[in-house]
Parts: sequence; structure tokens; C-alpha cells
Amino acid sequence: MTTLTIVLTGACGGIGRALAVAFANAGHNLVLVGRSPDALAALREGLVRPRSHRYLVADLSSAAAITELCTDIADGPPIDVLVNNAGVSSFGLFVETDDALVEHMLQLNVLAPMRLCKGLMPLLLKSQNAALINIGSGFGSIGYAGFTAYCASKFGLRGFTEALQRELANEKIAIHYLAPRAVNTAMNSDKVVAMNAELGNTADEPEVVAAAALAMLRLNKSSNRYLGWPERFFVRLNALFPTVVSGALKKQLGAILRHAKSV
Ligand SMILES: NC(=O)c1ccc[n+]([C@@H]2O[C@H](COP(=O)([O-])OP(=O)(O)OC[C@H]3O[C@@H](n4cnc5c(N)ncnc54)[C@H](OP(=O)(O)O)[C@@H]3O)[C@@H](O)[C@H]2O)c1
Repeated sequence: MTTLTIVLTGACGGIGRALAVAFANAGHNLVLVGRSPDALAALREGLVRPRSHRYLVADLSSAAAITELCTDIADGPPIDVLVNNAGVSSFGLFVETDDALVEHMLQLNVLAPMRLCKGLMPLLLKSQNAALINIGSGFGSIGYAGFTAYCASKFGLRGFTEALQRELANEKIAIHYLAPRAVNTAMNSDKVVAMNAELGNTADEPEVVAAAALAMLRLNKSSNRYLGWPERFFVRLNALFPTVVSGALKKQLGAILRHAKSV
């Protein structure tokens, strides 16, 4: 496989670390993006061929910081791939969710990937192996009680990705949407873990997501992948027969509300 230079946001998070390890082990070079220089340096030192990777510090909730990040990347070696992985979630009742948190979630989960795509697209399109992977979620296709603002952000990211796939269909870039189901990372609070356990929702290890992302890099055309069974089936069912899924989820509502209210 060709050696690629991959820009990876949220590199120090649960899924980000697994992505970094999988990409580095596959021989790729990384531009690790995160907020903590110490965590980024430690991550880089733990990867194979640490000198082949570099890191850049940026708070992606700031448009100015994203512009600066794109300039720093443009000043460095050519890049082939952007992986928009950084994200935040929140679990609770929508009417009780702080407005600032809703705004932050939309900034980070939708606007930041859009801004990064726009800023880095001219660089990506110079590559013969250009690819973009947006890390979405099953909640980008299924509206789920307790995750209303997060769902809005991931639905937005999925819509953006689908439109961009179609807009750039004549360009030499593969645009992928990768939607994990629940994953065992710090993103999921104790309340979410308890709710998933009660409802029997399976959570994957981050390495499952990393393996799927690595497989996407081997494709030379755009793709969409939803991880997990029966979650993948429910994504399709919700698109065709949303009322059927609403009926099934209503049976879970009591448990969801109990956990969501226990703030
Ligand atoms: N965990 C799940 O159940 C699950 C399921 C489906 C989809 N996903 C998606 O997978 C992606 C990664 O999630 P995760 O589970 O790995 O979460 P995580 O462990 O909480 O990591 C989140 C990452 O996002 C970065 N981030 C947060 N705020 C940021 C900001 N303002 N600027 C720059 N970076 C920021 C964090 O950077 P720092 O290192 O600087 O804190 C961290 O690396 C997210 O897009 C999430 O929506 C997760």
C-alpha cells in the first residue's frame, strides 16, 4: 500500500489513538491534531517510526484556530488524507441542555469538519491518493432520545458528507462516512454506559473503528459504512420505515429517560 500522509483530528481520544496506531502500523505518516501538546508528544513517541509523524495543537471550536491549522499544514509536507474524528457528545434531556453546549457540539461536530474540508481540499486534491474520512455515528441516521443535539450534529455531518460526495464525484478524491455504534471510550459517561448495559446495546472497542477506517483507505471510491449488527439494519429500517423504529424505541423510552434525568 502507498505510504500516505494523514491529518487526524482528535488524535489523543479513544478512537483517535486507535486510528493513529493502526495508520502508523500500516506504514502511513501522521499529522496528529489535538489540544494538549504533552499528550500529542507522548502519543507520537508511542507510535512506530515516531520521527515520521508530527503534531499540531488546535482548538477546533475556533474558526481562527482552524484557519491557522490549515496554514500550518499547508506549510508542511504534502498531505493525502484528512480524518475528521474530533467530536463531543452529551446525554440528557434537550430542554435541560445548556445552549452553550449545544452550540459547542454543532461547532465541533459539524462546522469544524466542514471548515477543515474547505481549508484543506486544495491540498488534498493535489494528491493522487486523496481521501477524506468523516467519523459520524449511528446517531447520525437514527434520532435517539437523550442525544438530541448530538444527533442534530451527526445528521448534519452525514448530510454534508453525502452532498460533498456528490459534488466532488468528478474529482479524484474518495470521500467516506464511517458511522460507529457505541464505542468504549471516555466520551460515554457512566450514565450512558449504564443505560447501554440495561438496554443491551453493544459497545465496540476503538480498534474495530480503526480497522474499518484502514479498510476505507484501501478503497479508491467514496463509501459509507455503518458498524455493528443490528445497528446497521436499524439505520436502513429508519430510512425506509421511521414509524416502525419510533415504535421500537418507545419501548426503551422509560429506561432512557430514567438515565437521562439522573444528572
Ligand atoms: N465513543 C462512542 O461511543 C462513539 C460512537 C460513535 C461515534 N463516535 C465519534 O467518534 C469520534 C471520536 O470519539 P471518541 O469516542 O474517541 O471520544 P473521546 O475519547 O472523548 O475523544 C474525543 C476527541 O475529540 C477531541 N476534541 C474535543 N474537543 C475538541 C476541541 N475543542 N478541539 C479539538 N479537539 C477536540 C479531543 O481532543 P483532546 O485530546 O484535545 O481532548 C479528543 O481527542 C467523535 O467524532 C464521536 O462523535 C464515538
